Amino acid sequence: MRLVDSHCHLDLPQFDEDREEVMTRAREKGVERIINPGIDLDGCRCALKLAEQFEELYVAVGVHPNSADSFDADALSSLAEMTKHPKVVAIGEIGLDFHWKTSAPEVQRRVFAQQLELAAELGLPVIIHSREANSAIREMVGEWIAGASFQRSPLAQRPFAGVLHAFHGDLSLAEEAYRWNFVLGLGGPVTFRNARSLRELAPKLRLDRLLLETDAPYLAPHPLRGKRNEPAYVTLVCEELAHLWALTPEEVAVQTTATALRLFGLEDRFGVDFSTHVTAVHS
Ligand code: NI
Repeated sequence: MRLVDSHCHLDLPQFDEDREEVMTRAREKGVERIINPGIDLDGCRCALKLAEQFEELYVAVGVHPNSADSFDADALSSLAEMTKHPKVVAIGEIGLDFHWKTSAPEVQRRVFAQQLELAAELGLPVIIHSREANSAIREMVGEWIAGASFQRSPLAQRPFAGVLHAFHGDLSLAEEAYRWNFVLGLGGPVTFRNARSLRELAPKLRLDRLLLETDAPYLAPHPLRGKRNEPAYVTLVCEELAHLWALTPEEVAVQTTATALRLFGLEDRFGVDFSTHVTAVHS
């Protein structure tokens, strides 16, 4: 199986002791591409250094809503500067978090809106975090997609414009996301035995609009829940989705890998003719 972990925070200190081994274990499981979104400017810089060290690692640059207070006047130009690095493939992780509220909602909204504009300006897809904020996300992303800066952006011509990472909305939000030309990321939570609504929703989602993710070091999938997560465990998410869809893990891997490569513009760097893979097994 060839897999992509579309969301992993390998720059965090939880991996300082054994990053090489973590990458080796991922490789052994067929995880051939890993996307590392930054959560603040220092994290983005650290992720870029790692991407120079590890061939399979690519980076999204952005400021997470929980770090929104650190987003000063220079932050936007620093992010823009970093996107010149050849391994930057997206803007993220950006969004809204009304659970922790480490920054005031108005500050989060402003910082999110500015980074959405940056993504449109640069033609890069977005990786969106939403926690207890789905209705505000729906409103803000909807306005952004309908707005002039998105409509005239090269982003409007790409196969996909972004991902709602760690998707936990309802079918109506999923369908809205498809209309935006977005895809949805699923990770550890879909394997949790008590995540009933998400497990019921999952097989109703479009498999050709789905990405696998770990969000490592957080949210380790069942039966490793509570442990430190790592990219190799994306196989557990793949197997669980295969079970929920009544497909083979290979079928889920082929579809989700093709979608991830198209979203992040990595098809030609992967060396596969993905066009033969994009058949809707289930939609
Ligand atoms: Ni994350």
